[in-house]
Amino acid sequence: MVSRVIPVDTFDLVIFGATGDLARRKIFPGLYRRFWAGQVPPDSRIIGAARSAMALAEFRAQVLASIEEFVSPDKRDAARIDEFLGRIAYVQIDATGSGGWAQLKAEMRPGMIGAFYFSVAPSLFGDLAERLHRHGIATAESRIVVEKPFGRDLASARALNATLAAHFAERQIYRIDHYLGKETVQNLMAVRFANILFEPLWNAQHIDHVQITVAETVGVGGRGSYYDKSGAMRDMVQNHMMQLLCLIAMEPPYHFDPNAVRDEKLKVIRALDPVGQDQIVRGQYTSASGQPDYLTDAGNPESLTESYIALKVGISNWRWKGTPFYLRTGKKLRARTSEIAITFREPPHSIFDDAPGWRENVLAIRLQPNEGMNLMVMIKEPGPGGMRLVQVPLDMSFAKALGAEGADIPDAYERLIMDVIRGNQTLFMRGDEVEAAWAWTDPIIAGWEAAGRRPKPYDPGTSGPEDALMLLHRDGRRWREIKE
Ligand code: BG6
Repeated sequence: MVSRVIPVDTFDLVIFGATGDLARRKIFPGLYRRFWAGQVPPDSRIIGAARSAMALAEFRAQVLASIEEFVSPDKRDAARIDEFLGRIAYVQIDATGSGGWAQLKAEMRPGMIGAFYFSVAPSLFGDLAERLHRHGIATAESRIVVEKPFGRDLASARALNATLAAHFAERQIYRIDHYLGKETVQNLMAVRFANILFEPLWNAQHIDHVQITVAETVGVGGRGSYYDKSGAMRDMVQNHMMQLLCLIAMEPPYHFDPNAVRDEKLKVIRALDPVGQDQIVRGQYTSASGQPDYLTDAGNPESLTESYIALKVGISNWRWKGTPFYLRTGKKLRARTSEIAITFREPPHSIFDDAPGWRENVLAIRLQPNEGMNLMVMIKEPGPGGMRLVQVPLDMSFAKALGAEGADIPDAYERLIMDVIRGNQTLFMRGDEVEAAWAWTDPIIAGWEAAGRRPKPYDPGTSGPEDALMLLHRDGRRWREIKE
């Protein structure tokens, strides 16, 4: 299968925070990979902007180092890398003052697509947005890209939206949730809406429950001070897991169009039930094998922040009433794996009364690693001796099914940046969606803060606190195993 690269128009892309960690790990390596794939038009330019005084050669050397660290060797070629670095400029900029803005304006070419990636602290969003206008750099066609965290509650998200809206129209604002850029996350929409097979069964009548798991093996070491103010609920559930839930639960949009998709997601968020404290389990990892515990990593011995959360939520609409969604995510768990598992109800009547075995179909969609889908179906256990049922997988790895193209799945950031250049907001969160997500999250967090509850300890390398098992056990269900 030949990999298709859809060309984009020539652009000037400015990265504010160009010397930061995200730029180093994701943005520059991602842009290089798109360049390698032939998607970056010949005259396009990338302008790094940051606070430090730095010669252009020094900045390019930094970008080169990030390519060497984060791009696989089969995509590195000295001549191509030189060509890529040749497109890069650097401007020393004072986000809260006047230094550098005239130079930035001089770097931008009229008539090109102009995009500005705010890879900086949210407290600077307003300053950047205002100065882009004051210095005549932004136009009505410019795009800005902003990163999470988009606020830490409804009030701060509203304030951020208002700050951006003072300078840019909603159609110019691209709020990144990198989960939406993952190949398999988009595949969720393809599976649901490009096949007749699943959609007729996609409701409470036929689906018993849904499990969404995002398990990580890393701890929070290194990011402790950020993470401790956030916790798993704000860091993962309010955004990434909420987006996954929306794509599973939303009604079919009338078209694969940015606002049509986002309208449907918004309706799901608004229909989410409040979550009582008895439907939530929060945890903190302990120390093991000489590795620090959460409190040490967070640098806060009194911390009540969770590095693990599991919760049960219902959706009050016609499609989903009666089907619980169980969400869990945590650090330092047994394996790095993200998956969505849809468990269907048992058939209404069994003709195999005495046959032992399972009765459930489960559709598991693996987001990472080993992207793919697995549908558990019942068959007869081979051999004589009566009818015994056995559950077997119809297993599809996307990499195997799609050959080389499947193995070469672009990183979420590369895809999303190219969508910004294309002017396609489908995979970006709209302001009202973010606010609705916080409106659901805020009372949950307020609930446990009021109770002053301490998260339950769990050992690294396990599947989280024991109490999380109970969340499903008492409903007569159980979590799927966390494994790669
Ligand atoms: C980030 C969170 O948004 O997503 C991190 O801040 C988390 O805490 C990361 O580790 C997970 O992303 P991925 O793509 O590795 O699943």
